[in-house]
Amino acid sequence: MALREILTEPNIKLREKSSAVDKVDKDLQKLMDDMLETMYAAPGIGLAAIQVGVPKRVIVMDIGQKEGQKNPMYFVNPQIITKSKINSIYEEGCLSVPGQFAEIERPDKCHIRFLDYYGQTKEIKAEGMLATCIQHEMDHLEGILFIDYLSKLKKSMIVKKLSKQKRAIERIVV
Ligand code: NI
Repeated sequence: MALREILTEPNIKLREKSSAVDKVDKDLQKLMDDMLETMYAAPGIGLAAIQVGVPKRVIVMDIGQKEGQKNPMYFVNPQIITKSKINSIYEEGCLSVPGQFAEIERPDKCHIRFLDYYGQTKEIKAEGMLATCIQHEMDHLEGILFIDYLSKLKKSMIVKKLSKQKRAIERIVV
């Protein structure tokens, strides 16, 4: 396993639409292992492949329901079958939008079909935080970030702040 670099906004790559995976093979499992390690190290609870620069429809998550115990989840080619009409609100953050948080409203429940780590077709009925997390990660596959749901003003303030942070970091490195 190896750590990968997490891309941060603004970065045009994060806006790319990810392609479906043809086959869950050793190489894809290696990618998922790396993504999981990168996510744990960050630390975060979800990561989409595009966040490490790979435009494939792959997500890893661990929402840590059991304290102290790892519970990794892998979603390849996830599809939403149904989602509830009732919404819930969570304060969301994102490893690609460091240090920024906002309340986002999304459907409270969703039924997802996907391939697991071994390429088996699985279904999950997610609700609450798990549902929000999956939908956040699935947005990444379409090139959508949570800040896209905010007002233009709020979003541009966040992007400006992140651009400044990036420049500051570059100055120190150079
Ligand atoms: Ni994210």
